[in-house]
Amino acid sequence: EEEKYVEVDEREKVPHSEQRKWEEEQMSSAQFRFGAKDAAKKRSQEDYDMILDDEIEFIQALQKPGNLKKDDIEEISETMKKKMSIEDTKKSLPIYAFRDDLIKAIKEHQVLIIEGETGSGKTTQIPQYLHEAGFTEDKKKIGCTQPRRVAAMSVAARVAQEMGVKLGNEVGYSIRFEDCTSERTMIKYMTDGTLHREFLSEPDLQSYSVMIIDEAHERTLHTDILFGLVKDIVRFRTDLKLLISSATLDAEKFSGFFDDAPIFRIPGRRFPVDIYYTKAPEADYIDACVVSVLQIHVSQPLGDILVFLTGQDEIEACQELLTERSRRLGNKIKELLILPVYANLPSEMQAKIFEPTPPGARKVILATNIAETSLTIDNIIYVIDPGFCKQNNFNSKTGMESLVVVPISKASANQRAGRAGRVAAGKCFRLYTAWAYAHELEECTVPEIQRINLGNAVLMLKALGIRDLMNFDFLDPPPHESLVLALEQLYALGALNHEGELTKLGRRMAEFPVDPMMGKMLLASEKYKCSEEILTIAAMLSVNSSLFYRPKDKAIHADTARKNFNAQGGDHLTLLNVYNEWAQSDYSTQWCFENYIQHRSMKRARDVRDQLSGLMQRVEIKMESSPSETINVRKAITAGYFYHIARLGKGGQYKTAKHNQTVTIHPNSSLFEELPRWVLYHELVVTTKEFMRQVTEIESKWLLEVAPHYYQARELEDSTNKKMPKVVGKSKSQLAGAAGML
Ligand code: CDP
Ligand code: MG
Repeated sequence: EEEKYVEVDEREKVPHSEQRKWEEEQMSSAQFRFGAKDAAKKRSQEDYDMILDDEIEFIQALQKPGNLKKDDIEEISETMKKKMSIEDTKKSLPIYAFRDDLIKAIKEHQVLIIEGETGSGKTTQIPQYLHEAGFTEDKKKIGCTQPRRVAAMSVAARVAQEMGVKLGNEVGYSIRFEDCTSERTMIKYMTDGTLHREFLSEPDLQSYSVMIIDEAHERTLHTDILFGLVKDIVRFRTDLKLLISSATLDAEKFSGFFDDAPIFRIPGRRFPVDIYYTKAPEADYIDACVVSVLQIHVSQPLGDILVFLTGQDEIEACQELLTERSRRLGNKIKELLILPVYANLPSEMQAKIFEPTPPGARKVILATNIAETSLTIDNIIYVIDPGFCKQNNFNSKTGMESLVVVPISKASANQRAGRAGRVAAGKCFRLYTAWAYAHELEECTVPEIQRINLGNAVLMLKALGIRDLMNFDFLDPPPHESLVLALEQLYALGALNHEGELTKLGRRMAEFPVDPMMGKMLLASEKYKCSEEILTIAAMLSVNSSLFYRPKDKAIHADTARKNFNAQGGDHLTLLNVYNEWAQSDYSTQWCFENYIQHRSMKRARDVRDQLSGLMQRVEIKMESSPSETINVRKAITAGYFYHIARLGKGGQYKTAKHNQTVTIHPNSSLFEELPRWVLYHELVVTTKEFMRQVTEIESKWLLEVAPHYYQARELEDSTNKKMPKVVGKSKSQLAGAAGML
């Protein structure tokens, strides 16, 4: 079965010199404007190996199951041991030698760019150094943004542990729908999106003494917008320190943007990584991953494996295959621990990936892009890189947004490979050809701001009082047409008036940490007297990706259980059913178990619902319910999502209402076999086809009721008129020109 795969070591090999060259270029071009003399302090490899042994020993001692539940005396001694070892671990990080120089540089300069290899200790150590240096006096906080929620949570947990405090007290995190901070919090990790929102309530960031924009190289939409906002703030808040921290590569560019702010480079420690390519492209990279893992496991010395996949679905599929095949091999092979890491991973499982591998066993971590730079997992020796990631893409011509699996960039590929060389010489197996690497991969990933829907960002900027978006200080400006489209969408949703100013509705929409369409749906529920139902649907939509549980051996039962929830009208109402029945069971865990539903997803939906409910009160929406009335609920959904409409055409194919793009109902939808004439979808996911996920049946005439300025009766007639309907209302250019919208 495995014959078609070349043994890992026999694959086309590119010695680490290529990798080295890349590293060296980086280091030699580095002007060590700070800390140059400390480069000499770099530890020798022997030093490092020694520290590493200690580190491993410490972690093993620390992680023995149940060591926190021992009786008091033992617990104290354990804590002592832990403290000691934490000190050692902290000292072993590359950043440690630069502690004093770094603090000095921060004191001297208001804005500093910090560049250092992933895993050098930037995220976990810098806030602690700043705290020790007195930056949290006068009740001021140190803020640190992360592009990913798992990273914010996990890093905060680690730092709380290092400082010996309870997470949520002195050290906390804040992510969308979850605030784990208190009055006492001095070090606060948060997602970049959360900080973006904080500007609404605290436009001068007065409660912070230092703000760290971390992982700046990721160039997420929120990070990019934060650059412009913080650059403006440091001008009048001369006491605020701003640190822009990034893994590699972009430091010069950041420095230029921030008026030539100095760059502080932390030299990395990297062991050589050999890179292996496949001789021919892989048809099925999941399968290729599984085989490569097993090949490494049986033929290569011990050391953990990191596999990069694109999302939870792939990770679960790969986990299942690996589990099954390694079980079949039985005790012919050593123990293989398979651990997933992705955005929605529950926090109790997040800790698992940092636990040390038991002696004689091997850990294989199946991760999304999150392990590329945001999270460092120690002791990875082998990296398997299929060369793909999931991207949120947006077509500004059709206004269609979708999640697409795309090839990664060379910069990403090199970051991924680098993960194998952190603790020892490593190997990276690329599941693509050397030719593909050289000719098919882009140099760098295009910043998010240039490829996604800007509706949310524009709404937030408008709410912050920024009128002139065209002249906003962007590091890289978004394409003109994306801005125009965002303005158009917000206008169609009623958030902006024809002069591009925020309306009352828009102001209320900006209160919700959700995209404008969902915000509009929530607000529209008032008119349709179904805010209770819409609130539940909004909460469920934000967790739906991991709601139903489908164990392979009980697939039939699980499918039957799922079908029982199917509601007339579609998936949104099905989600409502699930939540309501769970609520009736008094939020029972047992109920979830019996119905093959993930309890933790439901718990999260309940939290999200509570939060949204608080916001509904804040914007003074009357909470009403119309339990037997599904038309109003569906109309309220349509009032928000009228951009996401498709109609059934000839040959049983759906086409989007405005742009005639072919789309398909996802097989998981309750409407998969029903094929209603008009449907609304929550999102588009592109895999083998453009799939609509979370689909609800609507009536075309509702569109005239909820979006009269966007649809006209003619284009909703049920003829199979193939012509592109004209955009009604104001034309694009008219809109863009409309007094100062841009
Ligand atoms: O930010 P940077 O990539 O420079 O490094 P870091 O995230 O501060 O990581 C420093 C060290 O902390 C690494 O050895 C990580 O493995 C460790 N760490 C951890 O043990 N648990 C976490 N939740 C996060 C980091
Ligand atoms: Mg970091």
